Amino acid sequence: MSKVIALAGKGGVGKTTVAALLVRHLTKNGASPVLAVDADPNSNLGETLGIKVDKTVGDVREDFMKNPQGIPSGMDKIVYLEMLINQVIIEQEAFDLLVMGRQEGQGCYCMVNNILNRFTEELEKNYKYLMVDNEAGMEHLSRRTSGKVDMLLLVTDYALRGLRAVGRINSMLSDLKLTVGQVGLIVNRAPETLGKAFLDECEKIGIPIVCTIPDDTALLDFDMEGRSLMDLPDDSLAVKAVDGLMDTVLPAVKQTRRIHG
Ligand SMILES: Nc1ncnc2c1ncn2[C@@H]1O[C@H](COP(=O)(O)OP(=O)(O)O)[C@@H](O)[C@H]1O
Ligand SMILES: [Mg+2]
Repeated sequence: MSKVIALAGKGGVGKTTVAALLVRHLTKNGASPVLAVDADPNSNLGETLGIKVDKTVGDVREDFMKNPQGIPSGMDKIVYLEMLINQVIIEQEAFDLLVMGRQEGQGCYCMVNNILNRFTEELEKNYKYLMVDNEAGMEHLSRRTSGKVDMLLLVTDYALRGLRAVGRINSMLSDLKLTVGQVGLIVNRAPETLGKAFLDECEKIGIPIVCTIPDDTALLDFDMEGRSLMDLPDDSLAVKAVDGLMDTVLPAVKQTRRIHG
């Protein structure tokens, strides 16, 4: 059964950057196969990993809903949808990428969603690690029927607003059908020393800081040049911070016991 690492936080704080660096770490440290799941409708994990994404699970769902008669004759609806979604998985040498894309519009999507959810949950079993880059509401994660995240990393920038968003996500967790093994806070673009007001707020929220990532101009350069963060040098500041994080949390993630399955 795969280990699920998920990222959440306010927009723009660095979730996708951290997600890409986690994929980089896992694949370079023999933790393949990894499935990177872009579950933010504003998706750009593909770009950050240097991959062009043509089609998303959301597109498959919309196409199917628009033309449910489009199933080739004699083919079962479930088999057909599974075939379409298989085409959405982008296979790379070191990892695969699945982009969830837009959420559904109006109409009854239950049947299609059920088939898609069941299929993605089966698919996930083929991987050692699942890296899920979420939007703040964690819509995708909350729908999973297997409902288990081994490590939830909440990302904030060095600002109280980002931190409060993390606090809201954390307090929302109990309402989701989700069992979370561990929760850790990542402070991105952090100064060398964190100020008292920030640390006091962290304490109020009650999530331990597991990693601080400094501002790294290499990230901006890569972003501007459209280069994959997989190609960042090992000594880039952000890479070193995320590698350090994984060295500390990964042993604990490996040990988390599953409640189901
Ligand atoms: N530690 C950092 N140093 C410099 N730039 C960063 C850092 N982390 C993220 N960025 C930049 O900030 C922008 C937003 O990051 P992103 O990961 O897309 O945020 P999110 O996924 O939370 O919306 C990107 O342009 C990214 O290159
Ligand atoms: Mg993002």
